[in-house]
Amino acid sequence: MSSPESHKLWGGRFASPTAAALDALNRSIGVDFRLWPFDVKLSKAWALGLREAGVFSAQECETIRKGLDSVAALLASGKIVDPSDEDVHTLIDRLLHDAVGDVASKLHTGRSRNDQVATDTRMWCADACAQVRSAVRELQHTLVVRAEELSDAAMPAYTHLQRAQPVLASHWVLAHFWSLERDITRLESARSAALVLPLGSGAIAGSAFSVPRDLLRAELGFERISQNSIDAVGDRDFVADLIFAVTMTATHLSRLAEDLIIFGSSEFGFVRFGDTFSTGSSMMPQKRNPDALELARGSAARASGDLFTLLATLKGLPSGYNKDLQDDKRAVFDAVDMILLVLPAVSGAVGELRFDSLKMRAALSSGLMATDLADYLVTKGISFRDAHAAVGALVRESEEKGCELSALPSSSFTAAHATFGSDASEWLSAEKSISRREIAGGTGGKSVAEQLSAARATMARSA
Ligand code: ARG
Repeated sequence: MSSPESHKLWGGRFASPTAAALDALNRSIGVDFRLWPFDVKLSKAWALGLREAGVFSAQECETIRKGLDSVAALLASGKIVDPSDEDVHTLIDRLLHDAVGDVASKLHTGRSRNDQVATDTRMWCADACAQVRSAVRELQHTLVVRAEELSDAAMPAYTHLQRAQPVLASHWVLAHFWSLERDITRLESARSAALVLPLGSGAIAGSAFSVPRDLLRAELGFERISQNSIDAVGDRDFVADLIFAVTMTATHLSRLAEDLIIFGSSEFGFVRFGDTFSTGSSMMPQKRNPDALELARGSAARASGDLFTLLATLKGLPSGYNKDLQDDKRAVFDAVDMILLVLPAVSGAVGELRFDSLKMRAALSSGLMATDLADYLVTKGISFRDAHAAVGALVRESEEKGCELSALPSSSFTAAHATFGSDASEWLSAEKSISRREIAGGTGGKSVAEQLSAARATMARSA
């Protein structure tokens, strides 16, 4: 077997070998090794292209393609441990030489690692988009199942983390479904952005060999081919698109996690965390900690960091390929690896939550229906502004007396506004408050049932 030290894709123009300190810095194999399945596929397609361009005979093309299959088998076997080649492209080139001999030296004709790495990274990102998307779908599925189970359970909805108005608990669960649906859309568009083929761009000016790029596109499953070789080798917008999609997903998970962490505290007690996604304390025997959710909450920070790293790398970079771009993979691999760990854990934690509908119901103090009480006056012909002021006075009185709004005597109501009648107390019912909100997208029972079918239909349309 040839050695990584002696096998370089460049070096002829140098009189002395590179310094060890440069090799150590320059080497990216530790990060990009995982690109090998894509790089092998790319090289097999490139061999076909070179045959079409008359560089390879049919026989040579066949030898190279078979050789690449054997390289793939070797890499898949896990026998190549911790290689010290400069990068994955150099490694595969070396292994191909070992497999088929000198004919391998022809494969790098008309291509550069610049268009190679851009193509590999695009394939990896497109694949990652699909994987993250399906993990998001899993979580959405869990949320829909939980929303259905909650049927008519009611809870407070919060603004400023202060009790605001009653809602169906399923309505709150589904709120998180729709934010994830936007992530699905972003992931799909990041995938499509990745599927533009740079191969054929060479180092910067385009390959001088007439390799049919549409054949490469079809072989490698790309949707389009790039229109400008300078742009194609330096473009990493698709990486930013994917990291942004992941960052938004992680941000949504952090908000879901935070809701659940708050609702799971003893002070709220709306949910109880299950056994398989909670951890204990090494000191306090009573603890049941929502670590999966806390790690999910923290993951948004890591993804944002990856996004910022990439954006800062791209800003002010001269056009074409620059070595700074080597670090795009570190950022995108980290973000994607992280989200692929977090999504199933959040899904599992949500799946085993136990909702306490009695505690949720008990939190619906009558003050949450203050808006309904104002609406009552509106139905009697009072302007909302006057109604708001009248109910505001009642709220203040109840606060001063330290009682519920519903516990105030009817005399207080008529003193606040002469229009209040004996039917006003019905408007302090949480259930009625909910059922008055049958507007599309509202928390009324029928609206939420429609929302649930819409969520199911969305998932069925593009599973
Ligand atoms: N390892 C490099 C990267 O990830 C491959 C491209 C190297 N190109 C070059 N001109 N040195 O970006």
